Amino acid sequence: MKQIGIYVHIPFCKQKCNYCDFYSLCNKDNLIKEYVECVKEEIKARSNLNYHVKTIYIGGGTPSYINPKYIEGILAEIEHNFELDINAEISMELNPGTATKKSLDHYFQMGINRLSVGLQSSNDDLLKLLGRIHNYKQFEKTIQYAREVGFRNINVDTMIGLPNQNIYDVEKTLINLIDMEIPHISVYSLIVEPNTKLEKMINDKKVELPDEEMERYMYWYAKRKLEENEYIHYEISNFAKMKNICKHNMDCWKQEEYLGFGAASASYENKTRYTNISDIENYIKNIKNNEGFKNIKIEEKQTKKSMMNEYMMLGLRKINGINTESFEIKFGKNVFDVYNKQLSKLISENLIRINNDNIRLTKKGLDLANLVWEEFV
Ligand SMILES: C[S@@+](CC[C@H](N)C(=O)[O-])C[C@H]1O[C@@H](n2cnc3c(N)ncnc32)[C@H](O)[C@@H]1O
Ligand code: SF4
Repeated sequence: MKQIGIYVHIPFCKQKCNYCDFYSLCNKDNLIKEYVECVKEEIKARSNLNYHVKTIYIGGGTPSYINPKYIEGILAEIEHNFELDINAEISMELNPGTATKKSLDHYFQMGINRLSVGLQSSNDDLLKLLGRIHNYKQFEKTIQYAREVGFRNINVDTMIGLPNQNIYDVEKTLINLIDMEIPHISVYSLIVEPNTKLEKMINDKKVELPDEEMERYMYWYAKRKLEENEYIHYEISNFAKMKNICKHNMDCWKQEEYLGFGAASASYENKTRYTNISDIENYIKNIKNNEGFKNIKIEEKQTKKSMMNEYMMLGLRKINGINTESFEIKFGKNVFDVYNKQLSKLISENLIRINNDNIRLTKKGLDLANLVWEEFV
């Protein structure tokens, strides 16, 4: 039996945040019902009872924006078509502006056991500037209700390097989350994506970003503060209490296989990376015409070499890095034989270090991760 993860993409949002370029649509609510039916059709079409599902991740967009009955229907379809582990980690992304105690209770009753809540900052002025649909009070209420209905495994997304953000905002946000005993915290460095409202606001000098030195200061501050409070820094942007490390994401970084369902979702199966087309109207049309195969774009059929390169890049995202023995077991080769030149260069530039048979990023490597990846492209 093959062990896999499943990702389901729900590309609907109430309002587009100014910084976001994820595939998500506003004012297309008329398509929700049809879209969910098509996602279920796709799940049926790719059914495999020899696939043992260890994790499910329902992401978006905003899965909590659509009626919970749709999420329940998708989960039931997965259960009918795959062998779902009784202890599977089942995560769902949630925007605090879209959840009620009733909907949270419904999610918990249908088997979702991990929530990933988008907060970004506890500063209401920043939330407004980002175009978020909620304030900090609503977030607090969401967490309170989530706990009252039974959720324990909760992630909160935060962002650093935001326009007009200062170190005190970062400090306040993290202290609030630590005090609330949130067991998993993501700290994302803002990426200014092309063609977003935020890019325009910056170009028009309506807002100003903190400089790079300050952004790095925020990152290292966050790392120190969270580690002082017994969070494990396990991936570049992710911190968690020991038993709350996200299995789904960890498996992706370990180059394990997963199936993606829905528009714009990605899959990794049989050494092949593929994605579904983004355009929701075409995604629906192809499924309705029994031409679901037209939704799939092969991104890469991996050779052993490209698989090893990717394993290095993904592995170095993890704070524990790449275990040399695991590399040898997976590929039948010694990592130092394969990557002698690259590893020597990265060590001499103090971007990686070797510690207890693990190859990992140094402090400098964490700041300059893009330079490290380039060695393995
Ligand atoms: C799909 S959203 C989470 C769920 C929900 N849609 C929400 O926003 O509340 C994923 C997360 O990615 C992060 N993110 C999105 N765009 C980003 C960007 N341009 N730079 C850095 N982080 C970003 C945000 O922290 C966001 O919460
Ligand atoms: S950050 Fe979340 S809520 Fe905002 S537009 Fe992106 S997916 Fe939608």
